[in-house]
Amino acid sequence: MNYTKELLKHFQNPKFVKSLENPDGVGEVGNINCGDVMHLEIKVEHPRAYNRKGCENPQAGPETFSKKGLQGAKIKDIGFKTFGCAAAVASSDVVCELAKGKTIEEAKKITKDDIIKKLGGMPPIKIHCSVLGIEALKRAILDYEGKKVKHSTDSPKRGRTKEIEDWEGKNGK
Ligand code: FES
Repeated sequence: MNYTKELLKHFQNPKFVKSLENPDGVGEVGNINCGDVMHLEIKVEHPRAYNRKGCENPQAGPETFSKKGLQGAKIKDIGFKTFGCAAAVASSDVVCELAKGKTIEEAKKITKDDIIKKLGGMPPIKIHCSVLGIEALKRAILDYEGKKVKHSTDSPKRGRTKEIEDWEGKNGK
């Protein structure tokens, strides 16, 4: 397989293969073409807390966050574990590298093209492997958002559906 040096570097020495203690969001996906599985966890830092009426409330616990309260939340740590090929491991490591330190909204904008560019290219037959990490990140974020807005007046179901459609649209699904 004709892998780039950058891809082999991330495969042979991935920095983000780890489990997090009490993750805020967990995402897991499988690739039906090859049976491989990706598990990804995120830890999120909340700059502000808002109550359900949208008023800032420094005393609010995570269970009282509204959708507005999620604005500015950042991914402060991220880790993955995979049963997958070199391309899947390398692209997931890059997903983690790109997502760490970003706000949730910024992380949602990561696409497979960002991953492939960062890896200096990928054999066409392996492109499908590059979406495994992005899909797992998407699910971890949705898991996090679903937990945090469950007491909000916003509809988590409606929000999720739109997010999935937007994300899949950007990734050519
Ligand atoms: S061949 Fe299964 S993820 Fe790459």
